[in-house]
Amino acid sequence: MKIWTIANQKGGVGKTTTVASLAGAFVKRGQRVLMVDTDPHASLGYYLGIDCEQLPCSLYDLFLGHKSLTVDTVKTHIVPTNVQGLDLMPSTMALATLDRSLGHEEGMGLILKKALKLIEGEYDVVLIDCPPVLGVLMVNALAASEHIIVPVQTEFLAIKGLDRMVKTMLLMGRSKKINYSYTIVPTMYDKRTRAASAALKQLNEDYNEELWQEVIPVDTKFRDASLSHLPASHYAPSSRGVKAYNRLLDDLLAKDLCHVKIS
Ligand SMILES: Nc1ncnc2c1ncn2[C@@H]1O[C@H](COP(=O)(O)OP(=O)(O)O)[C@@H](O)[C@H]1O
Ligand SMILES: [Mg+2]
Repeated sequence: MKIWTIANQKGGVGKTTTVASLAGAFVKRGQRVLMVDTDPHASLGYYLGIDCEQLPCSLYDLFLGHKSLTVDTVKTHIVPTNVQGLDLMPSTMALATLDRSLGHEEGMGLILKKALKLIEGEYDVVLIDCPPVLGVLMVNALAASEHIIVPVQTEFLAIKGLDRMVKTMLLMGRSKKINYSYTIVPTMYDKRTRAASAALKQLNEDYNEELWQEVIPVDTKFRDASLSHLPASHYAPSSRGVKAYNRLLDDLLAKDLCHVKIS
């Protein structure tokens, strides 16, 4: 079971869109996919038309009951989506209180990893969406993952401080047994603007192997897809944006994901 986290400390850079788009692309390739939403805003659930506050269980309950996790209890925290083969472990607003209530307990950073280990046989791929905050939720996501995808909006302000942020993020979630690799994915690229090409040039200068050598273009179909509560792969399969995410997936799968390591 592959576990990838999609993270960036900035909001609005395309994290949730990347999770939904890669998840849809994996499903189209016949894979069983679980998305885990660790963002208290629960955007991923709303994106897929699921009102997470109305569900009986969420990731928050899984954290509260972490001392007695079994395969069955983990499964009760998962709901199907309107796309066959695509499930969601939903978030709720209550998750925002987790840092305060449980953040200092011993072993809190490894709960998600343990929970996912229990359901290893059920899915081929797990994609974890993150809040734009460095906290216990992101630590859990990073500690559970073998690869991190960092969507970065191709805009000057979005790439400022990226290097330090990525290093801090990876170190925070690091556990001794895991070798992280990460891929920076330029998003919302508008080739008509000078700002976008300048940002891309800067990313190329600052990063080497970690930078995906293509871009996710600005594509209004992503917004339309979220309005229709479908991954773009299912809403507009032949759109430019979906094709770009498919190429990203090809490249991620072809890459030796343990090659680039943070020491
Ligand atoms: N490539 C893209 N082109 C156009 N709009 C996009 C693109 N990627 C994301 N968006 C839109 O930008 C907004 C923020 O994206 P989102 O994925 O929610 O970011 P994050 O999860 O990082 O906060 C959403 O309205 C989304 O539909
Ligand atoms: Mg989001």
